[in-house]
Amino acid sequence: MARHGFSRTLVVLTLTVIALSYSRQPLALQHSPRLFAKFASSTTSSSSSPQFDYHYETRFFQQQLDHFSFSDLPTFPQRYLINTDHWLGPQHSGPIFFYCGNEGDIVWFAQNTGFLWELAPSFGAMIVFPEHRYYGESVPYGSKDEAYKNATTLSFLTAEQALADFSVLLTDLKRNYSAIDCPVVLFGGSYGGMLAAWMRLKYPHIAVGALASSAPILQFENIVPPKTFYDIVSNDFKRESSTCFNYIKQSWDEIASKGQTSNGLELLTKTFKFCQILNRTDDLLDWLESAYSYLAMVNYPYPSEFMMPLPGYPIKEVCRRIDGGPDGTSILERIYEGVNVYYNYTGEAKCFELDDDPHGLDGWNWQACTEMVMPMSSSQESSMFPPYEFNYLSFEEECFKNFGVKPRPKWITTEFGGHNIHAALKKFGSNIIFSNGLLDPWSGGSVLQNISESIVSLVTQEGAHHLDLRASTENDPDWLIEQRATEIKLIEGWINEYYQKNEAVFDM
Ligand SMILES: *[C@@H]1O[C@H](CO)[C@@H](O)[C@H](O)[C@H]1NC(C)=O
Ligand SMILES: *[C@@H]1O[C@H](CO)[C@@H](O)[C@H](O)[C@H]1NC(C)=O
Ligand SMILES: *[C@@H]1O[C@H](CO)[C@@H](O)[C@H](O)[C@H]1NC(C)=O
Ligand SMILES: *[C@@H]1O[C@H](CO)[C@@H](O)[C@H](O)[C@H]1NC(C)=O
Ligand SMILES: *[C@@H]1O[C@H](CO)[C@@H](O)[C@H](O)[C@H]1NC(C)=O
Repeated sequence: MARHGFSRTLVVLTLTVIALSYSRQPLALQHSPRLFAKFASSTTSSSSSPQFDYHYETRFFQQQLDHFSFSDLPTFPQRYLINTDHWLGPQHSGPIFFYCGNEGDIVWFAQNTGFLWELAPSFGAMIVFPEHRYYGESVPYGSKDEAYKNATTLSFLTAEQALADFSVLLTDLKRNYSAIDCPVVLFGGSYGGMLAAWMRLKYPHIAVGALASSAPILQFENIVPPKTFYDIVSNDFKRESSTCFNYIKQSWDEIASKGQTSNGLELLTKTFKFCQILNRTDDLLDWLESAYSYLAMVNYPYPSEFMMPLPGYPIKEVCRRIDGGPDGTSILERIYEGVNVYYNYTGEAKCFELDDDPHGLDGWNWQACTEMVMPMSSSQESSMFPPYEFNYLSFEEECFKNFGVKPRPKWITTEFGGHNIHAALKKFGSNIIFSNGLLDPWSGGSVLQNISESIVSLVTQEGAHHLDLRASTENDPDWLIEQRATEIKLIEGWINEYYQKNEAVFDM
C-alpha cells in the first residue's frame, strides 16, 4: 500500500497511509492510508529499470461489472499478464501462480514481484497477473473519466467484486487450458496480500494456498490501536537516532510558527526549494509526512527503486544528514537535507513539485471512503508526527463531501473477519502465509503470530514492505533468504498435498 495524505486529501498501503493535519481544522479523509497506488499509476512508463526483464503476454478478458446482481450491465475488459514458458501443462497438473492485483497498474506490480518470476521455473508454474478493476487499463464504462464520475459508476469498485473477478477469470482460464485440475497458488503484497488471504478464505476450492505479504487485514475498527502505523514509522527513525527523531518531532512547530510570519510561506518555499510558492503550511506537512512514511515502507536493506531511487536502509541516511549539519544549522535546514534523500537522491531535482494528485480522488480514496476504513492516529507521546486523533465523524463528512457516500467501517470485518482471528481461523481455514518485516509500518495491522499448523506468520525484524516478494539480489541478507526458503517449502507442501489427494502424477 502506499502513502498517507495527512492533511490534504485522504489516502494508503502498497500500501498506503494517512495524513495527520497539523492545523486543527476538521480534517478529512486524510487519514486513510494509501498504499502505493499513486506510484503504481505513474511509474510504469518510465521503466528506468533494465533489471525488469520479464516476458509475458498481455490479454483482456470480458468481465462482469456486477457479480452480485443479475441486472443487464455492460461488461468491461480486465487486463491480465500471462506467462506459460515453464508451465508443466495440464497432463502434469502444472501449478498456476496467480498474483492478486492491487490498487494500481498491474505491470508495475509484475515488475516488482520478482519472487514469483524466479519461483515459476522450478515449480513448472504458469504465471498470471490479473489487474484489479478500476485500475490501470481495467476500467469499466469505457474510460477512467466515466468510471470515476460519481458514486453510481464507482459503486462496483470493491474488494468483493475484485475477488469475484479473479475467481471468474481463473475458472475461465483453466477451462481454456484444460487445466481444471491444476493447483492454484495465490500471491499478493499489501492490499494485494489482503486480497490473496481473503480469496483463500472465501474461495478455498479455487486455490490451494496464499502467500499474503505485508497484508494489514487487521487494520480495521479497533482491532489494532490506531496509533500503530505512525508509531512504527517513528520507531524506524528513533532506532537510527533519537536526535533525528527529536529534530523531526520539533520541526512541525517550527514550520507552523514560520508559516505565521508575514513572509513565512515564501521563506519556507525557499528553504525547501519548491517550484511554486507554498500556499499553506499543511501542504509542506503532507509532503514531509508522506516522505517519512514511504521511507519506512521501503526501508530495504539494499539500494532500491521501488518508489524512488534510494540507498540501502534509506532512513539511516536521512538521519545521518539531519543529524550531520554543522552547529548552528537550523532545524528546517536539517529537515530539508534529510528529505533530499527521499525526493532527490539522484541529485537531479531542480526544485520540488508539491503534489501530483491534488484532488486525491483516485480509486483508493474511494475504497477508503467505502469499505477500507483504516483508522489512524498519531500519538503525542510516541510519534514524531504532529498529534492527531482519528475522528470518524469528520472522516465520514469528508467522504460524503468528496464522493457522496458514507463509509461502512464495520463491513470488512463482517465480510472477511478480523476480530479474534486466531480463534476464528484455528480450525477453519488453512494454507496461508502472512509474511511481514517489522520495519514496515503496515506490519502492525498484519497477522504476526502463527494461527495453526498451516496458517503461519513469517516475521523478520529488519524487513520492510513486502520485501520478500521482490526479486532476489546479491545483497540479500541471510534472514531474507531464509524467509523466502521457508515460504518455498510451505508452498511446495501445499502443492504436494494437493497432488497426493488428487493422486495426480507429478515429477518435480
Ligand atoms: C452518475 O452518472 C451517471 C451517468 O452520467 C448518471 O446516470 C447517474 O444518475 C449519476 N449518479 C449520481 C449519483 O449522480
Ligand atoms: C477463454 O477463451 C474464450 C474463447 O476464445 C475467450 O473469449 C476468453 O477470453 C478466454 N478466457 C480467458 C480468461 O482468457
Ligand atoms: C498556490 O496557489 C496558486 C494560485 O492558485 C497556484 O498557482 C500554485 O500552484 C499554488 N502553489 C502550490 C505549491 O500548490
Ligand atoms: C538535488 O540535489 C542536488 C545535488 O546535491 C542539488 O544540487 C540540488 O539543489 C537538489 N535539488 C533540490 C530541489 O533540492
Ligand atoms: C510460525 O511457524 C513457522 C514454522 O511453520 C516458524 O518458522 C515461524 O517462526 C513461526 N512464526 C512465529 C511468528 O512464531
